[in-house]
Amino acid sequence: MADSKIIAVLGATGAQGGSLVRAILADPNGGFAARAITRNPGSEKARALAAAGAEVVAADADQPATLAPAFAGAYGAFCVTNFWEHFSPERELTQAGNMARAAKAAGLQHVIWSTLEDTRKWVPLDDDRMPTLMGRYKVPHFDAKGEADGIFRELGVPTTFLLTSFYWDNLIYFGSGPKRGPDGKLAITFPMDDRKLSAMAAEDIGKCAYGIFRRGREFIGKTVGIAGEHLSGAEMAAALTRALGQEVRYQAVTPEVYRGFGFPGADDLGNMFQFKRDFNDYYRGARDVAFARTLNPELQTFEQWLARNADRIPLD
Ligand SMILES: NC(=O)c1ccc[n+]([C@@H]2O[C@H](COP(=O)([O-])OP(=O)(O)OC[C@H]3O[C@@H](n4cnc5c(N)ncnc54)[C@H](OP(=O)(O)O)[C@@H]3O)[C@@H](O)[C@H]2O)c1
Repeated sequence: MADSKIIAVLGATGAQGGSLVRAILADPNGGFAARAITRNPGSEKARALAAAGAEVVAADADQPATLAPAFAGAYGAFCVTNFWEHFSPERELTQAGNMARAAKAAGLQHVIWSTLEDTRKWVPLDDDRMPTLMGRYKVPHFDAKGEADGIFRELGVPTTFLLTSFYWDNLIYFGSGPKRGPDGKLAITFPMDDRKLSAMAAEDIGKCAYGIFRRGREFIGKTVGIAGEHLSGAEMAAALTRALGQEVRYQAVTPEVYRGFGFPGADDLGNMFQFKRDFNDYYRGARDVAFARTLNPELQTFEQWLARNADRIPLD
């Protein structure tokens, strides 16, 4: 619709931004229109978004000048950075700063910044319960996002700070799925002891973000957290056992062991899980399932997500 409020969506070809674009397009009379931002409008994913009805615009968060036209005339923006493309918290900070300045210059009325905790507020750098990484971080891919909150605040960008949760999709795409041990049995491995992991379907992040935009100015200046369910490793393993039709066990390891697994980012993720384990009451409390369901009535449980996705989980 010509008078729809345009939401400029960073990460539109990815999990978070893509789910927001789909949520906007699924509600053609909702009063919003999706502008999908990508570095490569010719990619298959970008062309699929255009075919589905999104306006596709080229911009690169590393090149601030490209963000001005991408935000021009928009009502709002969804801002997300992708740590895992470069593993650089400094680059995330720079990108977030570029987004915040462009949002301010464009006079956007509502920005959702997809953030995470700056864990250094809970575990200062001189706290040696977990190692300091990259010189000045405990959980680099969390800390830089949390630090970037301050940029949006200092610039006076009308921002909702959205705390997301671990994606169950990581079982498919991120190597977090069940692995066979030497005994041939499947197990999921987290350094969480018996504490609960706040998690959700990645597709629900965008649906919740859409719910936030629909609620107008209500959450501007606030931090809101979302999750689909809080489950222990044993509860996740039991649900996987039911969905896959074969036994999946939960293997609890220490954060030290997890950090030593050696894959890229294992130390960062080991610290992240330790943060979630050691500050579990805070972490879960900051991510409210009932609240998320008010934003997105279709919010999935793990069992519902598994019913749709279990056959996509690689079992090795
Ligand atoms: N996995 C989890 O459990 C989890 C949970 C919470 C938060 N997160 C956070 O989620 C973030 C990643 O989001 P995602 O999973 O939605 O990403 P994703 O599916 O991997 O896709 C990455 C997106 O970022 C865009 N992008 C990357 N660099 C860009 C740049 N310089 N300029 C413009 N766009 C750029 C890509 O667009 P083009 O390639 O089309 O340009 C793509 O759409 C990470 O920072 C991670 O820490 C992950």
